[in-house]
Parts: sequence; structure tokens; C-alpha cells
Amino acid sequence: MSKILVTGGLGYIGSHTVVELQNEGHEVVVIDNLNNTELKVKNRIESITGKEVETVIADVNDSEALEKIFSEHTFDGVIHFAAHKAVGESVDFPIMYYQNNVSGLINLMAAMEKHNVSNLIFSSSCTVYGATEDLPVTESSAIKKAESPYGTSKILCEEIIQDYAKHKPMKAVLLRYFNPVGAHPSAQIGELPLGVPNNLIPYVTQTAAGIREKLTIHGNDYATHDGTCIRDYIHVVDLAKAHVRAMEYAAKMEVNVDVFNVGTGNGSTVMDVVNTFQTVNNVPLNYAIGPRRGGDIEQIWADTNKVNNVLGWTAKYDLNDMMRHAWAWQKALDKN
Ligand code: WQD
Repeated sequence: MSKILVTGGLGYIGSHTVVELQNEGHEVVVIDNLNNTELKVKNRIESITGKEVETVIADVNDSEALEKIFSEHTFDGVIHFAAHKAVGESVDFPIMYYQNNVSGLINLMAAMEKHNVSNLIFSSSCTVYGATEDLPVTESSAIKKAESPYGTSKILCEEIIQDYAKHKPMKAVLLRYFNPVGAHPSAQIGELPLGVPNNLIPYVTQTAAGIREKLTIHGNDYATHDGTCIRDYIHVVDLAKAHVRAMEYAAKMEVNVDVFNVGTGNGSTVMDVVNTFQTVNNVPLNYAIGPRRGGDIEQIWADTNKVNNVLGWTAKYDLNDMMRHAWAWQKALDKN
């Protein structure tokens, strides 16, 4: 079994990935600056897996902290989640996004190089495709100029990894996530809402819980079957499992860098999500149609042939499961 460093390992996708790594017998060390999570997530992971999570509270931009971790452990690979991820926030604070997301990666790669760790799984995003008519998107679909500093930071990171791997020993897997949603079936970990949610699902669950007065649906005049935007929502546990497969693949892949779309291959509209949430949970949702949100693309969903056939991974949970687990998590949050 391997020893893996997980940066941002107490975050939303990171914590679910630590659970799946431990469930498969891998040893995990986490570095997290707690910028977008809480230390109690560590205890919750441990209560799910029954295994201790060695955790260093530090920032990937802190070279000394990284040097100490890499000196104390011999890692077989790194899964890099630690980054800012809010599109809207990135427009307001572009420098913070370039600094944290791009310099953070460079810092991590420098530590990996110094300690001869060459396997890297990088958390990328379908945002790199931008708006496209070419649906479902494949990994060879055009990468567009990003519409936000968040998207730009992901494109820059991908390019840095691709370029570096041409000159230095590196086996990197770039995972382009579609829309991660839901929570662990135990309802012990999930998306921790800090402030007013930008993303759809936390807003839905908080509205259903009475924390928000109503959900505003950003536009219903798009060219889709019900006028609302289409996305490929993927259960966070399915996404976490894809990282374990990717780590195993990196250890034996022939190419230096490989890229995978990680989605379900199914598109759902906002109304599909709203209706499914209400039906599955038997909970009414107060919503109204509002104006379009700037920067939103009309529709995107993944072609998943490559991830299915090369990584041997397929999403198992459907939209019903995603809505059920998201609601169970919200109710658990309200209790804590
Ligand atoms: C989904 C749909 C909204 C909130 C973002 C990031 C992307 C990735 C996933 C990291 C859109 C609509 C939303 C609301 C709404 N993150 N919506 N009312 O924008 O597809 O992608 O998260 O990798 O990089 O950009 O996700 O959940 O914000 O929006 O109607 O209150 O829900 O307009 O159509 P998005 P989202």
C-alpha cells in the first residue's frame, strides 16, 4: 500500500478522498491551512474509517512546513486539492487566487522535486472548457480562455504541470471535475458552508432548512428543455474514488501526464435538481426565477469514456442519491 500526501485533505473533496484512501489501506498525511474547513473534520474522518489521520496545519505556500513534512515522510505520491475555488470570489480577489492556486502548486512541486516524489494527482475543473457547443465534452475539447481568475489559475496550473513533465521526472494525472455535490452517506462529512453559498446545492439545502428564505434560479430562458442551465452533477464520494484510481494509475502509466474528465456523463437542469430534491426528500423548496447570473454557461456535461475505460472508474450514485445525502448532511449540520 502507498503513503500519500493530501493537500487540502480536510476540505470538501479532500476529506472524502482521505476516507476512500484509508478504506483501501493507503497511509495518508494531510496538510491543510483550515482556510475553508474546520479541524473537527479530522475527527469525523477518523470516526468513519477508524484510522488516525496524521494532519499538519499549514499552508502549501509555506516552504518550511512542506520541507519538514517531506523530510519526515517518504511519499509515493501527492493529491493536491489545496486551492481557492469560488469563481465569484476570484473575480474580486484575482491576486489571491493566482498567489494561492498557482504559487501554491509551484511550491509543492519544488518540494516534490527536492524529495524525488514524482506522482501527482491535480484537482482541475471542467471550467477550463468554458462555454462549448462540443457536447458532451471530451478531454480533447478545446481549452478556452477562462472567464474568471479561478478558471485561469486552473489552466495555468495544468500548463505548468504539462511543461514541467516534459523536462523532469513526473507522472501527473489531471482530473477535470464537473460539479461535485452531496455528502458521505454517514452524514459525518460534507460541504461546509462558510458564508452565503455560491453553489446551487448548498443553497438548496439551506433554503429547505429555513436558513435561506428562498432559492433564486438564475435564468430560465436558456435553450434547454426547461430553460434552466445544464450541469453534470457528480457525487463527491464517486469523485473521491476516482482519485484513488488515479493514484494507482499514476504509479504505472506510460505517459508523463494524463487528463480525465470526471463526471457522470449525464446532464441535469437546475429544475431537474430542484424537482428531484423535493421528491426524494419529500421537502418543499421555496424558489423563484431570477435573472441570469453573469459568467454562467448554458450547458456542459462530460464524455466519460476515457475515465471509464482507462481508469476503470464509473460514477455509481445518481441524482436521487446526491439529493438524499446532501439533505441528510444539512440536517446533521443543523444538529451540531
Ligand atoms: C450550477 C447551476 C447556476 C446557485 C462552479 C464552479 C466550477 C466548479 C463547480 C470547482 C448554474 C445555478 C446556482 C443559485 C442557481 N467548482 N444556480 N441558483 O457555476 O456550474 O460551477 O462549481 O471546480 O468551477 O464554477 O456551479 O453550483 O454555482 O451553479 O440557479 O443560487 O445552478 O446558475 O446554472 P457552476 P453552481
